[in-house]
Amino acid sequence: MSKFDIDKVRSDFPIFNDKTLVYLDSAATSQKPMQVIDAVSNFYSNYNANVHRGIYELSMKATEAYHSARQKVAEFINASDWRSIVFTGGTTESINLVAYSWARKNLNKGDEILITEMEHHSNIVPWQLVAEETGALLKYIPINTDGTLDLSNIDELINDRTKLVSIIHQSNVFGTINPIKNIINRAKVVNALTFIDAAQSIPHSRIDVQDLDCDFLAFSGHKMLGPTGIGVLYGKTELLDSMAPFMGGGDMINSVTMSESTWNDIPYKFEAGTPNIAQAIGLGAAIDYLNEVGLTNIHDYVKHLLKIALKKFQTIDGLTVYGHQVGENSSVISFNLEGVHPHDLAQFLDQDGVAVRAGHHCAQPIMDKLGVSSTIRASFYLYNTIEEIDKLCNSLTNTAKFFRGL
Ligand SMILES: Cc1ncc(COP(=O)(O)O)c(C=O)c1O
Repeated sequence: MSKFDIDKVRSDFPIFNDKTLVYLDSAATSQKPMQVIDAVSNFYSNYNANVHRGIYELSMKATEAYHSARQKVAEFINASDWRSIVFTGGTTESINLVAYSWARKNLNKGDEILITEMEHHSNIVPWQLVAEETGALLKYIPINTDGTLDLSNIDELINDRTKLVSIIHQSNVFGTINPIKNIINRAKVVNALTFIDAAQSIPHSRIDVQDLDCDFLAFSGHKMLGPTGIGVLYGKTELLDSMAPFMGGGDMINSVTMSESTWNDIPYKFEAGTPNIAQAIGLGAAIDYLNEVGLTNIHDYVKHLLKIALKKFQTIDGLTVYGHQVGENSSVISFNLEGVHPHDLAQFLDQDGVAVRAGHHCAQPIMDKLGVSSTIRASFYLYNTIEEIDKLCNSLTNTAKFFRGL
């Protein structure tokens, strides 16, 4: 932990000026360091202008900063070409973009889309809509109750009819890190396209799209220290080139006549209208920050926190952790406390200043599998501390005592 200075990290996040806050909901959205807040504020204060439109200095400066953010994203995920990076509003929009622009145009009755029972709703519902419209079949890789994928039938699930395999990299409920490279390799055997939902993994681990060789990958800026309203769709250039536009409007066209339009080059073809300029610049600053602290340092530190939290949880009577028994896990622990409804528990924790998430975490198929309606989720990031884990555990113990009349 020598290269990682937690006091310095915490001092970068103005929200922690409130010393009573124990923020354990980073899987929902991360807090923002001053460097990101400053980058956004600097844009609005000093060079706010629309991009790609003005032949004046301010607009050129804004355009340059917007483009530089795109290049930072490309480097961050080792994309060989900045044109592979489409800015969207977030992971949800990125998935919908592919569902509309690729899947609806290319899938037919009898084709199969394969996802898993571990997906966030944003990687289920768009494919259900596609299946309904095209007659394609939506299939699921099952999960085990230990929070891992059941890959025993993978050779049957990925078959000649499979046209798309879309998989969550890291579970937002269990923290499980899925063996996506193996699944991508298996999909290649039948020429199925692959889509990786990296919303939870990218804040914690180095992703190399060339090494993974996936066709698409999506993530959200707000979970990786960046602003809300900005996300990324990575796509192989030849695929993006071949796809129809998602939304029509300004900037995504080459020419417009009364009878027809032609499309701009990628990635602009998919960025209709004024883009989220300030948010993209903020995402670029978040990437700078993550690079400076070091993703490996962050990964190791969060793993250390997770290990401590899991050990302390074992001492709390009636606490059930979901997952984390086998395989690789990261940053998220879902659990329930016997005799206390998750929503009540979250409220009691909140009274002690501890912010956790209670609910189905937009993953109702997992809740069905576990036989629960909801869980509590504590998620950790680079600014959390061991003292905060102690506060969480004390609050859990006191709440359990209260509800059990002890
Ligand atoms: C695994 C996963 N995928 C997708 C999403 C959707 O992200 P967004 O709401 O930023 O579009 C989330 C958000 O929690 C997530 O955890």
